[in-house]
Formats: sequence, C-alpha cells, structure tokens
Amino acid sequence: MNATGLPPGLTAPRAVQTVRWLVRPWAMMEELHRRHGDMFTVQIANEGTWVFLAHPDAVKQVFTGDPRLLHAGEANRILLPLLGHHSVLLLDDEAHMRQRKLMLPPFHGERMRRYEEVMAEAASEEIEGWPLGEPQAVREATQRITLEVIMRTVFGVQDESRRARLMAILGHVLEWGGDPKRMALLAVLGPRNAASSRMFRSVRAPADQLIYQEIRERRRARDLGDRDDVLSMLLTARHEDGNPMSDEELRDELMTLLVAGHETTASSLAWAVERLVRHPKAMARLREEAGTGGSDFANAVCKETLRLRPILSLVVRRLKEPMEIGGRLLPAGLTVAPCIYLVHRRADVYPDPLVFRPERFLESSAGTYTWFPFGGGVRRCLGASFALMEMRIVLQELVARLDLRAADPRPERFVRRAITNAPRRGGEVVAERREADLQAPVAAAA
Ligand code: HEM
Repeated sequence: MNATGLPPGLTAPRAVQTVRWLVRPWAMMEELHRRHGDMFTVQIANEGTWVFLAHPDAVKQVFTGDPRLLHAGEANRILLPLLGHHSVLLLDDEAHMRQRKLMLPPFHGERMRRYEEVMAEAASEEIEGWPLGEPQAVREATQRITLEVIMRTVFGVQDESRRARLMAILGHVLEWGGDPKRMALLAVLGPRNAASSRMFRSVRAPADQLIYQEIRERRRARDLGDRDDVLSMLLTARHEDGNPMSDEELRDELMTLLVAGHETTASSLAWAVERLVRHPKAMARLREEAGTGGSDFANAVCKETLRLRPILSLVVRRLKEPMEIGGRLLPAGLTVAPCIYLVHRRADVYPDPLVFRPERFLESSAGTYTWFPFGGGVRRCLGASFALMEMRIVLQELVARLDLRAADPRPERFVRRAITNAPRRGGEVVAERREADLQAPVAAAA
C-alpha cells in the first residue's frame, strides 16, 4: 500500500527553508537525508514544493517516466529572463522534442570530434600565458578556455576582434546573471515578475544586438553549408514542417548553449584540478597516459570528479498529474528532484564514497541511475559528450605542460555560483613549467 502525500521534511517557515537552501544547500541535503531517508520535502520561495529523491530506483522512475507528466521546462523557469521563451531547456512536450531534435546532430559522434583541435588549441594558448610560481584560481583560466571554445565551435565566430567583443559582452552578462544574489532574487520574485524581466532585459540588450547581427550575417554566408560550427548547422536545419529556425529561436538556443555549457564545464575542470593536486598518484597516472595517447584514465578522472563534485546538485521535474514515486503517491503540481549530490555519495553504490578514486570507473562502468551529473531521460544534457571531451583534452594539456600543486593543502569547499557548485577558492594552484616540457599530448582517442 502506498503512502499518500508529501514525505517528511523541514517544518521551518518557507522563508527560512529558502535561505538555508540558498546559503548552504549541501549541509541541508545531507542532514535531511540522514534524518528522513531517501525522500524528503523542502519548500522553496516562489519555486514551490520540492520532493528530493535520493534512491536510484526513484531516479529511474523519473527518467523513464512519461515526459508529458514530468515537465522539466516548467520546473526550470527560473532561467527564463536570461534564456528566452524558445530555449530547449525551458520547453516541454512537442515543442521541446522539436527543438531538441534539431539541436542533437551537432553534438554527436564524428561531427563533434572535429572540435577536438579547437579545444586543444584554446587550452594551450591559455597555458602559454599562465602565471608561474604564484597562486592562481584555475576556474578563471578554465572560464576563458570554455568561453573561447563555445565562441568558436558553437557560435562559429571566426573574426578574432569580433570574437573578443562578443566574449567581453557575453562574459559580462554571465558574470552579472551568475551572481548568487540575483538568482536568489529571481527565486523570490519569480521569473515572470516585471521588475526582474526588465532588469535582465537591459543587461541582455547589448549582447542580443551582437548575437542577432551574427545570425543575420551568417544566414547570408556563402560557405554556410561547409561550416561545422553549431550555429551554421542550426541555420541549415529544418523543422519537420520544412521551416527553418527563426532568429529568435536561434538567439535563445545560442544563449542556452552558452549558459548551459560554459560555466558548468569551467567549474568541472576547476574541480578536477582541485582533486588532482591533492591526489598525486592520480595526477602522475593521468600525465603518463597523456604522453602515450591513451584516454581511459583521463575519462575516469572526469567521471570521478563529476561524481564527487557534481556541478548541479539536482535536476527538476514538475508533476502534471498525481504519480507514484518511491512507494508514495505524490500530488500534482509539486517538483520532484532526482538528487545528483546525494545519490553520488551513497555507500551502497560507491564504497568509500567520499574518497576520490578514478579507478572505480575503470573497474565498472557508470550506472544510468547512479551516476547522472548530466541528468537523464529525454532531458539528458545535450552537451554531455562535448563537455567530457573538453574536460579530457584540457586536463591532458594542463598536466603535460605544467607542474601543479595546491596553493593551500586544505581541500576546497563548495560555493554556489548561480545554480552551480564551484570550488570556493576557484581551484587555487601554483604552477611551474615542466622541465621535460612535453609537447602537446598525443591526440587521444575518445
Ligand atoms: C560538465 C559540464 C556540464 C554539466 C555538469 C551539465 C549538466 C546538465 C544537466 C544536469 C542538465 C539537465 C538535465 C535534466 O534535466 O535531466 C543539462 C541540460 C542541458 N545541457 Fe548541460 N551540462 C554540462 C555541459 C553542457 C554543454 C557543454 C552544453 C552545450 C554546449 C550543454 C547543453 C545543455 C542543454 C542544451 C541542456 C538542455 C537539454 C534539454 O532540456 O533537453 N551542457 N546539462
């Protein structure tokens, strides 16, 4: 017999729960999990009621459930002022699938492999200018790398001065929108609030102007069909009714790819370095493998980093009808949240769960419902392979060229940046150029 209604959770007033969630979500999740088990409830300001799911079986139910009843777009609405109404991240049902179908091909297989070279080039250019012998936050460098990579592979801006202008303006928008205080304000006011939309629109305007200019010019480019950047491919793609994507759709999807792919990958890289400098054996093995052209261990390092330091703590789905999940009949209207952070730390899935040990992903492969830093089901991250490839390439370039040590041996804690989990000191390291200065790592197989 199923239980009915909400699982137990915090009883404090909604405002107090919201503040705890915004300030120290990790301690809050751990405490509620310890106290109430694999399902618990939290009330978050304008976001409503969230039921956290920390058991892989419940995660499976959500990821394999009917997407018409489990709306991710609706649950992600907080990003609306930045991304716009056409964003694949914010749509549901047929509109979501239509958009997703057009966006998938550039992120698949061979097509995507063409971006390897750009990624390696962006990393080595950044490493050339890396300050030696003094503390430096890795995240600042990886942000520059991931932004450059997106500008070249997704936006496809070839002209260097235009790319620099776009990067400066978009960098400002992202920095502005990434401020946790602004996210907190949005969570309280709601994404449809007139004041918050106005505020975002005025910051977005100069960036939008440049993006629309790029779209219009690219539409007219003679070599459009030969170009392999994502924007050019989207411009030649057609919906099932034969229509191309409109300028507004393209703008919103470019912004979505930028917001979804830039800071997430940069912070994952900063976490990988933060872990590696505290695990010299893993660092040595990664370096050795980079010199031989292998990639298995590098991939395992990326997976273990994303397990233990997931960039997003959870994914969200809004229930459109009452639904049985985890043996409990949940009412329509609430949000279920498969909790990446808690599932990734389960001792029954990962022995010694808090130990950073990339080898675990060489011994057995990652489970669909026990390792999901990229979410799952029909909403799984479109850029997952792209991000893993970029992480591997940048890490291999870094360890081949630089000796890295922690600026301060104490592990870094989580800090919230917008909705992502970043290392508190940005992954602070001191770098020295390697004596042997290995050349760029031998191009590795994926
Ligand atoms: C380490 C880096 C990244 C992480 C941890 C990450 C994580 C995620 C997560 C958790 C979701 C939500 C999935 C769900 O609701 O089930 C998502 C969605 C998405 N991500 Fe990523 N992501 C990363 C990099 C990227 C990159 C590089 C791109 C593209 C350039 C990208 C594009 C997207 C898009 C378009 C969606 C929306 C998919 C949909 O709603 O159908 N992400 N990502």
